Amino acid sequence: MTRIGIVTEQPGETRVAATPQTAAKLRALGYDIVVETSAGHESSFPDASYEASGAAIVDRATAWGSDIVLKVAAPTEAEIALLQPGATLVGVLAPALSPDLLAALAARGVTALAMDAVPRISRAQSMDVLSSMANIAGYRAVVEAANEFGRFFTGQVTAAGKVPPAKVLVAGAGVAGLAAIGAASSLGAIVRATDPRPEVADQVASIGGTYLDVVVPDEAKEVSSDGYAKATSAAYDTAAAKLYSDQAADVDIVITTALIPGRAAPRLLTAADVASMKPGSVVVDMAAGQGGNVEGSVAGERVVTENGVVILGYTDLAGRLPQQASQLYGTNLLNLMTLLTPAKDGTVVYDENDVVQRSVTVTRDGAVTWPPPAVQVSAAPAAKTQTAATPVAPEKKKLSAGAKSGLIAAGIAALFLVCAISPPPLPQHFLVLTLSVVIGFYVIGKVAHSLHTPLMSITNAISGIIIVGATTQIIVPNPLVQTLAAIAVLVASINIFGGFAVTRRMLAMFQKGDQK
Ligand code: NAI
Repeated sequence: MTRIGIVTEQPGETRVAATPQTAAKLRALGYDIVVETSAGHESSFPDASYEASGAAIVDRATAWGSDIVLKVAAPTEAEIALLQPGATLVGVLAPALSPDLLAALAARGVTALAMDAVPRISRAQSMDVLSSMANIAGYRAVVEAANEFGRFFTGQVTAAGKVPPAKVLVAGAGVAGLAAIGAASSLGAIVRATDPRPEVADQVASIGGTYLDVVVPDEAKEVSSDGYAKATSAAYDTAAAKLYSDQAADVDIVITTALIPGRAAPRLLTAADVASMKPGSVVVDMAAGQGGNVEGSVAGERVVTENGVVILGYTDLAGRLPQQASQLYGTNLLNLMTLLTPAKDGTVVYDENDVVQRSVTVTRDGAVTWPPPAVQVSAAPAAKTQTAATPVAPEKKKLSAGAKSGLIAAGIAALFLVCAISPPPLPQHFLVLTLSVVIGFYVIGKVAHSLHTPLMSITNAISGIIIVGATTQIIVPNPLVQTLAAIAVLVASINIFGGFAVTRRMLAMFQKGDQK
């Protein structure tokens, strides 16, 4: 039976590669699970909890000697020596930055799978470790900032005076940025966010933030084609620098998450911007480990500037929520193992043609297989904003003013004709119908998309009126009128009951577990 070993991490790494819950699910895939003594200690999963899930607690050599070794951080030289030739190692290996590590793993004859090399495509989302960790880190960045900040996040009116809400600026609205925006706005702060990808504006607004647009006169902003940002232009950087200077003087907390893959972190806040912040303000530079978005931040350190601004450059934010991070990381690993075990019989079937499997494989059969062939991804959201410099997509053909007037004149003539030839009271009803259609078209057309659900509730009321009208007609001794009335009752009832069902589902989405 293929054995999976969960090993204890080096000091400083608080996460573990499997929790008792994910270990049980790995067993259900047909694997034999062994866990090194105290592997889950730092993330509050005692050995007994793994045993209860059916795993065996073993010594270091046995865990490392497994057919598949699951890990969080990259292995040390000493750890690589514990691996069996032919074994598979899965972990966060930073392959682009670790050629020596890859060479050592290949020399040992190990197949190494890098969880941080999962491509950003929809199918691989459930294995995307970078996103699951960035989500936790964004949340934790807000918690760290709140811990340092000497005031409430939310505004309050108390007997002892009025407290203004804290103002938070989040730079970069990717995975970590959106998590930070959500966490800060749920604590009650006023949250602003900026990002060179204009398509994130709706996402920022949907979780309570205000998107600050960097106004670039002559060129379009970068629209991502692969879910990641491209390097920003000089014009963008100049306009953004002005925005950051203005905001720094105004906000209480800045959280920076700007990242362009394969490059050093872009510098967003200068020392002068930080110096303009109020004493007691807090900056969390999430990119401190990649060179920093903020001048003066130090990777892994808490720095206090001369004007009393705290700059946090922590690089272990996800690990500061070890239980949560281990659960999500363990689930990412479980999803990869599920992909690798199609028959759920404890046998790995490696498919080189599968883009996810190929992308994560960094060494195999004694050779380094990194980098993988480029992946064509489809994460690109539709371009929304067009500026003068961007080629404008062919527009929907619009009617010329003459054609429009002609159509309106024809419509009015047809209306007169119908009114002239039809017997009363048909012209009266027809007029009401026509006016309702025209007014309804313009009124509903102007309602924002986000208000369509409440609008649907109003149409329920209209359906109620239709049912009352139809039931008064159903007694008319004319089969045609009766049939039409019956159809009207049926259709309006579907609208009413369907409306209630949809509204209930929508409300359930906003209720927390025990409120349901
Ligand atoms: P992501 O790729 O999802 O988001 C990065 C965002 O930055 C993108 O939306 C991009 O458009 C934006 N961006 C790029 N250039 C920018 C600029 N000049 N100005 C403003 N925004 C810009 O990346 P993710 O996963 O959200 O990670 C964000 C950062 O957090 C990365 O640097 C990552 O390494 C770091 N991170 C730090 C952790 C820690 O413990 N400190 C833990 C996890 C992630």
